[in-house]
Amino acid sequence: MASEIHMKGPVCLIKNSGEQLEVYQEALEILSAIQNPVVVVAIVGFYHTGKSYLMNKLAGKQKGFSLGSTVQSHTKGIWMWCMPHPQKPEHTLVLLDTEGLKDMQKGDNQNDCWIFALAVLLSSTFIYNSIGTINQQAMDQLHYLTEQTDLIKSKSSPDQSDVDNSANFVDFFPVFVWTLRDFSLDLEINGISITPDEYLETSLALRKGTDENTKKFNMPRLCIRKFFPKRKCFIFDRPGNRRQLSKLESIQEDQLNKEFLEQVAEFTSYIFNYSGVKTLSGGITVNGPRKSSLYLLSSLLLIVGY
Ligand SMILES: *[C@@H]1O[C@H](CO)[C@@H](O)[C@H](O)[C@H]1NC(C)=O
Repeated sequence: MASEIHMKGPVCLIKNSGEQLEVYQEALEILSAIQNPVVVVAIVGFYHTGKSYLMNKLAGKQKGFSLGSTVQSHTKGIWMWCMPHPQKPEHTLVLLDTEGLKDMQKGDNQNDCWIFALAVLLSSTFIYNSIGTINQQAMDQLHYLTEQTDLIKSKSSPDQSDVDNSANFVDFFPVFVWTLRDFSLDLEINGISITPDEYLETSLALRKGTDENTKKFNMPRLCIRKFFPKRKCFIFDRPGNRRQLSKLESIQEDQLNKEFLEQVAEFTSYIFNYSGVKTLSGGITVNGPRKSSLYLLSSLLLIVGY
């Protein structure tokens, strides 16, 4: 029987020094020692949006991930926590928490792109966490980063013909989960209440027409729909007062909004029930150009068992 993995807490998988990304050998060794099929859940989003809280919930812990908080903010990048899957015997759950994205408008964001791409390409379930409603800014950010991921992926497998490369790619894009935090709208259209999934689909609906404005409106939506054909949306009420969001891990559960806690329970239940094993059809070329980040991506994918 394969030995089970028990980590006391997350370790750094990818360190972002600002200049470059580095893989931690210790984390690679942990990954390569896993013999069970892996379910990989990754989360990405802006700073201070409560990402780590959801990941700790998936880990079944109050504390653990705390990117962006003062304790661990010296190491940015991707943190990893592996554990036996709570509901699937002989499966390993790998949780990946990422440093917060920066505003696209603010200068160099190459490392943001890499971290986003790694999170997408390594995960079987990819969570995009944002505050409030599905708005144009969140949509544009997701569109931009998804296109960059496509570029990165195609560069990392130069031997495959470019023909229909992205169609191929879609096969191993993860299930996409959009988590909307501090959501305060009533979910309804023309007085009829709708589910979060219907809200997501409505937000991604295309407009008819061929004029420039319509094209501009449709472009990010087409991209997101193409790369993430399997989509799910969760909304979360404000957990408590405004100040609590960024330090949720230190607050007692009974002080938090009950609806929020129910939404979190529904979310974790969904992730455990429906997150699949990471698979990749077609394989990926590992001897791509020795550009360090590409090499890193390739070797990571190899280690996760592709
Ligand atoms: C997950 O599975 C359990 C047990 O089968 C079920 O009770 C629960 O409702 C499921 N959760 C979701 C969100 O589908």
